[in-house]
Amino acid sequence: MRIAVVGTGYVGLVTGACLAARGHRVTCVDRKTEIVAAINQRQAPLYEPVLPGLLKEVVASGRLTATTSLREAVLGSDVSIAAVGTPLKQGKIDLTFIEETAAEIGAVLREKDGYHLVCIKSTVVPGTTDTLVKDTLKAASGKEPGEFGLAMNPEFLREGRAVEDFLHPDRIVIGADDDRSFARMRKVYAGLFDAPILRVNLRTAEMIKYATNALLATLISFSNEMASLCEAAGGIDALEVLEAVTRDKRFYPPEGREPVKPEITGYLQAGCGFGGSCFPKDVKALISFGREKGHLPRLLPSTLRVNREQPLRLLGRLERELGTLAGRKIAILGLTFKPGTDDVRESPGIAIIRQLLQKGARVCGVDPCGIKNMQKVIPEAGNVHYTRDPQLALEEADAAILVTAWPGFLEIPPEDYARAMRNPLVVDGRRVLDKESLEKAGCRYLGVGLA
Ligand code: UDX
Repeated sequence: MRIAVVGTGYVGLVTGACLAARGHRVTCVDRKTEIVAAINQRQAPLYEPVLPGLLKEVVASGRLTATTSLREAVLGSDVSIAAVGTPLKQGKIDLTFIEETAAEIGAVLREKDGYHLVCIKSTVVPGTTDTLVKDTLKAASGKEPGEFGLAMNPEFLREGRAVEDFLHPDRIVIGADDDRSFARMRKVYAGLFDAPILRVNLRTAEMIKYATNALLATLISFSNEMASLCEAAGGIDALEVLEAVTRDKRFYPPEGREPVKPEITGYLQAGCGFGGSCFPKDVKALISFGREKGHLPRLLPSTLRVNREQPLRLLGRLERELGTLAGRKIAILGLTFKPGTDDVRESPGIAIIRQLLQKGARVCGVDPCGIKNMQKVIPEAGNVHYTRDPQLALEEADAAILVTAWPGFLEIPPEDYARAMRNPLVVDGRRVLDKESLEKAGCRYLGVGLA
């Protein structure tokens, strides 16, 4: 099929590249000429493993092109997929880009003959597609639903693994309120992806996306709440507790002789909190949505509160250990919100660095990919510096905090901490370091969920 994808962020561009790799003819649309030029020159304009190679292949084969002209892309396609941003504004979802995109597509449909399906892939609160999007399309096109199709197809892509997640989905959710829209959207995926296709109505599809992210975020905050209780009790390691909890056969496939550890257990690990462009934004948007609709969620605000406090709890323990943070040099291992990405949005590292600076500490942040983006949030200045070399950060440091579990940090020999640091105190914010080896090398170890 001929598909237009509007928006070339990691969702839009990964969607376009993967659909082209599966044989569709894709036109990616973006307002930014430099992004469009980069794509047409086979350069991925964002950091996402695997994407560069895939993009080169599909652009070279002519199956994917990019343009700034939404009109040209929509006129020449059967389906338009909107993957534009839906940021937060004063704590609630901002649908400006969605509305603008729907209006632009609608204006093209006014002059376009034949049936065209409009699909929303962006994360939008329930009831957006079947009201705001539908009404905007009707007004801009002068056509009724039925003359054009409307679908909602949420994505479940993880940054750093987005191509893998798109090409190997576990389920494909298609929201549609009529058969023809569903049939057209189904053709995008049918036979090309080995996953069940779940048909729901438009607003159910929107809710499935939020419920998925809210569950994952709440699992993390649950784990961190258990960790804080373990710390308060003393003599309990949250790592052991959560490991045993997830050995419950209801987590493991009963038929598995040698049970495979399900990936969901990766969200039941205590740490310094979740970040990223999705979990915080989506949970906040869902709370605002509930408040507007007359049901104020009780659990979700706690998910956010536990997450907000988690990095600060860790710093509180460090401050008690050092007596004061003023004047101390603290190495921060990890700036991105997770390994495998250059994205620092809502990273716990931001809250930790800001609090350390406020307490008068000197900070040296280390990250293999995130420095450029962190500079935009907390620019290098007198008391904060960044380096890609952990040894430089550890040099004469009074403590080191592991915030992001980059593989390179896990390979730092324990002796390096003891030799380089003025005070070899290692705070394991992701519980991925070897406590015994660090202590044997003469370090003091502090871990989330262990006191
Ligand atoms: C998430 C969802 O997984 C994805 O399905 C959705 O489409 C977009 O949002 P992403 O934000 O890329 O993807 O990150 P993910 O890999 O899910 O991790 C989110 C955060 O949770 C990271 O900050 C990570 O450090 C944190 N995390 C993860 C924990 O704090 N503890 C854990 O046990 C697991």
